[in-house]
Amino acid sequence: MRLLFVGDVIGKPGRRALQRLLPRLVDHHRTDFVVVNVENSAGGYGVTPDVMQELADLPIDCFTTGNHVWDKKEGIELLDRDPRLLRPANYPEGNPGKGMYVGETAGGIKVAVLNLEGRVFMSTLDSPFQMADRLLAQLDRDKVKVVFVDFHAEATSEKQAMGFYLDGRVGAVIGTHTHVPTADERILPGGTALLTDVGMTGPYESIIGMRADKVLKRFLLQTPSSLEVAKRDVRLAAALVEIDEKTGKARHIERFLVPDEQQV
Ligand SMILES: [Fe+2]
Ligand SMILES: [Fe+2]
Repeated sequence: MRLLFVGDVIGKPGRRALQRLLPRLVDHHRTDFVVVNVENSAGGYGVTPDVMQELADLPIDCFTTGNHVWDKKEGIELLDRDPRLLRPANYPEGNPGKGMYVGETAGGIKVAVLNLEGRVFMSTLDSPFQMADRLLAQLDRDKVKVVFVDFHAEATSEKQAMGFYLDGRVGAVIGTHTHVPTADERILPGGTALLTDVGMTGPYESIIGMRADKVLKRFLLQTPSSLEVAKRDVRLAAALVEIDEKTGKARHIERFLVPDEQQV
C-alpha cells in the first residue's frame, strides 16, 4: 500500500497549495492513505472548524498536529469531536483529544496513525518512546499491520532515535515541526522508513513560513513582535511510503517538494 504524508500546512498559502496539488498527487501516485499535518493551517497557528471544513473535500484520511494545536480555542474543541484529527499522544492525561487513529483504505487495509511530540528544546511532556510502546500495545497487530508515526520534534537526533527505537515495529517514522525538509530518507535495517523532517507545505521565501522581516526584527531587537505568514515561493512538502500490507514493513520511501505554480 502507498501512504502519502504531507508536512505542516502553513496558513492560507499552504491550504491553497494543498487544495491545488494534493488531488493530483493522490491520482498520479495512486495512494491508498493520506495523512496531513495541520498544526499551522489556521493563520500559522493551530486549526479551526472553518479550516477543517475547507479541507473536508480533499482526499485526506487523517490529520496530525503538534505543539501549535493548542493555539486556537475552537480548534481544541474539535479534538474530542473528530477522531481523525490527532494531537500528540504524550501530553499529560486530562487534555482533550487522542494521539492515535485507526483508519482503513478503500481496499480494506487497516492503517494506524500515531502522533507524538519530542522533548528536546520543547515542552517537558511524557516520554514519546514509552507512549509509542503503550499505543502499539493497544493495537491488535494481527489485524493492524500498517503503522505510521508523525514524530513532531525539534532535534534531528531525537527523531532519528525514534526511528531506530521503532525499527521493525512500524512502517514509517517521519518527522515534522522544523518546517525544513531533510534529505535523509531511508529504510532502517528492521524495515522502518525514516525521514527526519518532511518540511512544510507553505511559503519558502520566509523564515520557517513567516515573513522574514518580522522574524528578523525579533532576532535583532530581542523584543516580542507579531509574526505574519509569508506569501512567496509556496511548495508542498510530502513523503510517499510504500508499505507491504502483509508485513507492515516499508519497501520504499521518496520525498517531494512540489512548487505551487499558481501561488496565492
Ligand atoms: Fe509546524
Ligand atoms: Fe510544531
